Amino acid sequence: MQQQQIIIAVDGYASCGKSTLAKDLARNLEYIYLDSGAMYRAVTLYCLRNNIDIMQINEINTALENIQIDFRYNAEIGFSETYLNGENVERLIRSKEVSDRVSEVAVIAEIRVFCVEQQRNIGKNRGLCCDGRDIGTVVFPDAELKIFLTADMDIRAKRRFEELQRKNIEMTYDEIVANLKKRDHIDSTREHSPLRKAADAIEINNSYLSQTEQLKKALSLARKAMVPAKQLD
Ligand code: DC
Repeated sequence: MQQQQIIIAVDGYASCGKSTLAKDLARNLEYIYLDSGAMYRAVTLYCLRNNIDIMQINEINTALENIQIDFRYNAEIGFSETYLNGENVERLIRSKEVSDRVSEVAVIAEIRVFCVEQQRNIGKNRGLCCDGRDIGTVVFPDAELKIFLTADMDIRAKRRFEELQRKNIEMTYDEIVANLKKRDHIDSTREHSPLRKAADAIEINNSYLSQTEQLKKALSLARKAMVPAKQLD
């Protein structure tokens, strides 16, 4: 029986494995995967490169007029990569420089409006798995499934360290812990769309779950959240 196409929101603190889970879900369900954090990272990269003073709202507005972000599918890796004004910035947006500044950029209301509009547009036909901080609370409050992912700090830092090593991006373990703590604090205390667990989100602590185990859990939740298309007539 044909299943309803739903939106799955995966929110949580930095480096809890949100993108791994959202990508696995998207692959399994043949849904679009949207990395909302990549947008804030791409805006941050633009601001750093162009010496934008993020305290000056007119500079932000002019910058946003000149920023075009899109995601292009790379068949070799099986996922989309982030493009900023036509340039593939997938690697650059994961650098220490961008990671250090992105939370400060993501507090700015104008930047959030800019990113959220594009995220809603990408999800307008549903069939989407999106990870971030405000996906279940602000971007898609009507998402059929909302997952709030958590994990212990040492496990998150170790995972991030290994991920960056695989990508040949230099950052020490201590730098990673400091960065995660700083971002968690800014992301959850900011005025606009702070990181919160939506009232109807289901929390999964994946500290001691394997990738396969967390996927199995989430897939079973997703199937329950899908109403057979027939019942929608
Ligand atoms: O998911 P990530 O670590 O790549 O996100 C980078 C930063 O972007 C994160 O520290 C806060 C911000 N962000 C946000 O404010 N809202 C989102 N939906 C996604 C990310």
